[in-house]
Formats: sequence, structure tokens, C-alpha cells
Amino acid sequence: MSLQDEIRRLTAPDILARKGGDPIVALTSYHAHTARLVDKHCDVILVGDSLGMVMHGFESTVPVTLDMMILQGHAVMRGSKRALVVVDMPFGSYEASKEQAFMSAARVMKETGCGAIKVEGGVRMAETIAFLTARGVPVMAHVGLTPQAINTIGSFRAQGREESDWAPIEADAKAVAQAGAFSVVVEAVAEPLGRRITASVAIPTIGIGAGPACDGQILVLEDMLGLSPRVPKFVKRYGDLGPGIEKAVADYAKDVRARGFPGPEHVYAMKGKKP
Ligand code: KIV
Repeated sequence: MSLQDEIRRLTAPDILARKGGDPIVALTSYHAHTARLVDKHCDVILVGDSLGMVMHGFESTVPVTLDMMILQGHAVMRGSKRALVVVDMPFGSYEASKEQAFMSAARVMKETGCGAIKVEGGVRMAETIAFLTARGVPVMAHVGLTPQAINTIGSFRAQGREESDWAPIEADAKAVAQAGAFSVVVEAVAEPLGRRITASVAIPTIGIGAGPACDGQILVLEDMLGLSPRVPKFVKRYGDLGPGIEKAVADYAKDVRARGFPGPEHVYAMKGKKP
């Protein structure tokens, strides 16, 4: 590949510049192999801490560690070339102080090579977001339903279902935008609230269950592929890979149990052996 052919990876400023423009396409990925597939079609790949539930079978994202995020973030960087890779900061790695947040974010960026990090929280995280961005860490914020707060909010239900609940969520989005976040994930809020937030902040909103008015959309890859056991109501299924995988595994098991050779016959033929 010549230097001219080299693909330039999108940056946080590229995504910021998309406010009100072409919709931003984002998906999660936790592995090099899925990153390779997603990278062709997405502007942003989020290495979400949802990996705790999707990959590891935890009940929530709370048990996820910084080391887990770094390992998968590095894998996604190896698998992708074009998309901006954003790595989630896991619960307990950034909330204690802005200094703790910087040390954790610096580790994530150095050890994965990712282009940005994501933190959950609005008004309460604004000072930290300003501290990080002033020190070279591009921050994607996350408001509305913030899954790391599951133990205080009690369930993964949509937020802002009553109009009377909208003001604090809108204030959260405005606070992170003013603090210097380059984009904000808005999760599981009523469609009119998603629209209102998108109109009132100067940074791109990336919706997940927040309606079509957002500047971009994100889904958890395994949810939209039909591979997750529990999927939020707002997720559209674009594939149903579970049965296909199960059938392939069942066929393989059948071959092995019948002492059939689970490899292409020509491999043996080339070596002058019969399978
Ligand atoms: O962890 C994650 O996958 C996320 C998305 C749902 C936005 O935060």
C-alpha cells in the first residue's frame, strides 16, 4: 500500500464537525474480528463496557475493570483502520476525582492507541470533562440512562418518561457540551427529549433509544445481530445469527461424533491421504 492509499482514521474533531450534518454511524465492538467488519461501515466504534454483560455474562457493567477495557480496546484498534475508536471508562476508574480520571484515561489512550474515551454522567462530570479535554483527552459523554448507576437507579428502564423529568437530563447534556465533550451519547430517553437535546447542544448527540432526531445512532453489535440473550425494547434486529451459529456447531459436533473429518477433504488429498 502506498502512502497515498493509507486510510486516515477519523478523529474526535472530525466527529464534532458532523453536528447537524451527515448522520454519525456508530456500533460497539470488543474484538479485532468484529472491528474489522464494523470498521468498513462505521464512523465510530465504541469499545463499550457493555462487554461485561455481552462477553462475560455479568448482570451489569459494574464489575468491568480498566484492564478488561484496555485488552479489548487494543484488540479493536488492531482490527480497525478508519473509524474513531472510543473506549469506555469503567465504573470506579474515573469518578473519585478529575486526577483519577486523567490517570485512567491516559493509561487507556497510551495502552490501546484509541482516539477518545467515554464517561457516564452529566453535570456531576462536567469539571472532570473540562480537566481531561484541557489535557489532551477527547471525551464522549453519556447521559440519560447511565447503566453504571444501576445500583442507585434500580433498573435499566428508560429515563425522562414524564416531561417533568426532562430538565435535569437536558441540563446534563448542556453541561457536558459546555465542558468540552466532543459528542454525547443519549441513552433511552423519550423521542421528544432526544430531539430537544439535539437542538439545544452544539455537539453531536449519538442516540441509543433516543429517537431519530439525534445526530447519530449507536447500538450494541450483538444486540442488533440477535446474539444477546436480553435486548432492550428499542433495538431493531438487523440479523439473527444465533441459530446459524448453533447449526454450524451442531453440524461440527455431528461430524466429530461420527468420526468424520472436520476439515476440507482436499487438505488430506494434497498430502496423499484419504479422509
Ligand atoms: O457500553 C456500551 O456499549 C455503551 C453503549 C450502549 C452506548 O455505552
